Order: sequence, then C-alpha cells, then structure tokens
Amino acid sequence: MSEINNKNLIVANWKMHKSIHAAQQYIHSFMQLEELERSSINCDVVFCPPVTLIQVLKEAGMVVGAQDCCAFSEIEGAFTGDISAQMLKDVGCQYIIVGHSERRKYHQESNELVKQKIANVHKAGLIAIICIGETLNQREDEDYKQILLKALEEGMPESANDRNTIIAYEPLWAIGTGKTATIDQIAEIHQYLLEKSLSRFAFSPKIIYGGSVNLENSQAILDISNVSGLLIGGASLNPEIFYKIIKIANKNR
Ligand code: PGA
Repeated sequence: MSEINNKNLIVANWKMHKSIHAAQQYIHSFMQLEELERSSINCDVVFCPPVTLIQVLKEAGMVVGAQDCCAFSEIEGAFTGDISAQMLKDVGCQYIIVGHSERRKYHQESNELVKQKIANVHKAGLIAIICIGETLNQREDEDYKQILLKALEEGMPESANDRNTIIAYEPLWAIGTGKTATIDQIAEIHQYLLEKSLSRFAFSPKIIYGGSVNLENSQAILDISNVSGLLIGGASLNPEIFYKIIKIANKNR
C-alpha cells in the first residue's frame, strides 16, 4: 500500500477518456520512453483512469487510483451504478479522488457528501485526494478563501490525517481552460491551506495543484515551496507529454 512521503506526487486524471485499446497503446509508449531514457521514476505517479481501465493499468504495473467512490458506507448493497471504496481497493486502487469540481458541478456533490466519501476511502485503508477550488465569480466577488476553508471544514472527516489525505487545490476557472493560476496565486493559497489545516485539523497535508498544468508551466509550479505535486487532466492523456512532466517532477525534490 502507498504511503504519503515527501516526494512529488503526480496524478493523472484521465476523466472519461480512452478505450482499452487506447490505454494499452498509451502504456506501450509510456514504458518505451521509460526504457529509452533509462531513468528511474523518483516521484510518485498515480493513474486515475475510468473504472473500465483500472485493471489494464494495474496489470501493466502502474499505481492506480479511482476518480470517485460511493458515498454510502456499505461495502456491497443495492446501489445501482455505485462502486464502493473497498471494491476499488479490491481492484488495486491505492488512491481515490473525491469531490472533483466536475462531480460537484454535474452531480451536485456537496461538502457533506464529499465527507462521507472520504470517510469510506479511509475505512478501506486508501488515500483520499480531496479537491477544492473556487469559481471565477467567487474569486472576484466574495472572500473566496472562506469558500475554500468551508469546503475543507465541511468535507474533512475525523478520520483524516497526513497519512491518508491529500488536498488538491484546483481553481475551477483554471480547469481545462488553458488558464493557469499565477505562481503568486498558487503560492498564496497553498500557504493558506497549509496553515488552516494545521490550525483546524492539527495536521499538515500534502497539497498538490491542478488546473491546466502542462509541459510549459509544470516546472514553475513545482518550484513553489508548498506545492507537493500536480493533478493533471488534459496533459496526462498524452504519454510523451506526461512522461516529460514526470521527469521535471523527478528533478524537483
Ligand atoms: P486539466 O484538468 O489539467 O485538464 O485542467 C485538471 C483536473 O480537472 O483535475
């Protein structure tokens, strides 16, 4: 089972992308690069593909995670379409992303629901990656830091600690838009989240950044002192680009 350490954590969030064939081609290219470069990967790399591909990536030797899990505490039951954290563990997942903004937006997931899901992730003995972020309107009109804090306060179960919980700061206006937050904006929020986590929950979680991360900006983002990794959507779908970002993260710590 994975343990949270001080290496960079690079998470590929494939969202709803790739057939089995496309995933196999990806793995083939990815592994060829690894062999060609003869460089050992020195940061933690986790692939969070659609559920249909977890087994494919696991069998290829990758560390895998899921993009969501069931909110009900039952391990099995009459919950059509749901998959429990325990079942995801059974198929080899070590991490589960919870509360991604697309789940919050398209499935109306609340902080309370996110909290139940994270508690289930912990009960299964897995690591939760809790996503929080503000919309553009919130950043412009309101005290958006309070919104981030509220998401944490309402979404963090008592079972959370620095060994089973990672925070992913993903400003919504930067996800899939090509707009990245500035280095100062990211540094400020990561520092804020770290301080608040310590004062409210008495632990310092690993905090990773997500939102239009690409080959051009990953170095500068990873150079920020409280950024401990990246949650990458679009740029993780291309094995060459993703591998290059991993190499940057390798050097970084
Ligand atoms: P993006 O997605 O890298 O495509 O912006 C990030 C995410 O949604 O986790």
